[in-house]
Amino acid sequence: MSVTKAVVPVAGLGTRFLPATKATPKEMLPVVDKPAIQYVVEEAVAAGLDDVLFVTGRSKRPLEDHFDRNVELEAALRAKSDHTRLAKVAAATDLARIHYVRQGDPLGLGHAVLMSAQHVGNEPFAVLLGDDLIDPRDPVLAEMIALRERHGGSVLCLMEVPREHIHLYGCAAVTEADDHVVVTDLIEKPAEEDAPSNLAIIGRYVLDPAVFDILRETPPGRGGEIQLTDALVRLAQLPADQGGGVRGVVFTGRRYDTGDRLSYLQAVIRLALDRDDLGPPLREWLVDYLDSGNDT
Ligand code: G1P
Repeated sequence: MSVTKAVVPVAGLGTRFLPATKATPKEMLPVVDKPAIQYVVEEAVAAGLDDVLFVTGRSKRPLEDHFDRNVELEAALRAKSDHTRLAKVAAATDLARIHYVRQGDPLGLGHAVLMSAQHVGNEPFAVLLGDDLIDPRDPVLAEMIALRERHGGSVLCLMEVPREHIHLYGCAAVTEADDHVVVTDLIEKPAEEDAPSNLAIIGRYVLDPAVFDILRETPPGRGGEIQLTDALVRLAQLPADQGGGVRGVVFTGRRYDTGDRLSYLQAVIRLALDRDDLGPPLREWLVDYLDSGNDT
């Protein structure tokens, strides 16, 4: 069965970006001129997933409004014959079939994914975390879906990180296969000395629906939260005919953590430099700015 649905948990509080995120969802912070979350939805659509379920929480209304029509704005732009901006405004609405489910109590990422069970049904599905922005020039999701189609089971996106950063991520123990790795164990946010590798889970997953039954029985783990990583450990141990098996793609492209201020700034600069309109003048200014001792 092919993968057609994307689940995007967006119920997090965004405390790393306060005060900007006091009244604005972190997913709505602009990366150049689009909210970070639009890149994530565009990535899902580019991989062929046009059914997107947001698992939301309180104070995420601006996100829902962004993917809905804004009739007054569209009318005003139409009256001015501003077709370029009209197309930009309509783009977010026309991208995908968007659905919402509220998480209620924020009990962890595993709990957020479990909220999607009814919508997803008995099909494999993708999970994309809103904080992780994969550079659109380095797509990885289609490769993950292809791996699922070849082998069944679930597929993670892994990335080598400096060992001193591994405590920020789920960490995978793996064995090498031909063009991918087989995940043998996972630890959520281990101390550096306990980490079995420097392979971090990046926020892209292709999951077998067997994960739902496991999540229903997964007790709170690290931080008192129901961890998706803990359910994945169980999936890795499950036989293939019960939806088990976890593989990984090792991603080497550009990825930003838009919940981290430095990584966010890097995302804005790198993606702006890639734009035809902004790239050349920004590059020129950046070079002058750095050459002049930051005085221009
Ligand atoms: C979550 C997962 C973690 C993963 C990370 C990727 O953690 O629990 O395994 O490595 O996303 O961004 P969070 O960053 O939500 O705390």
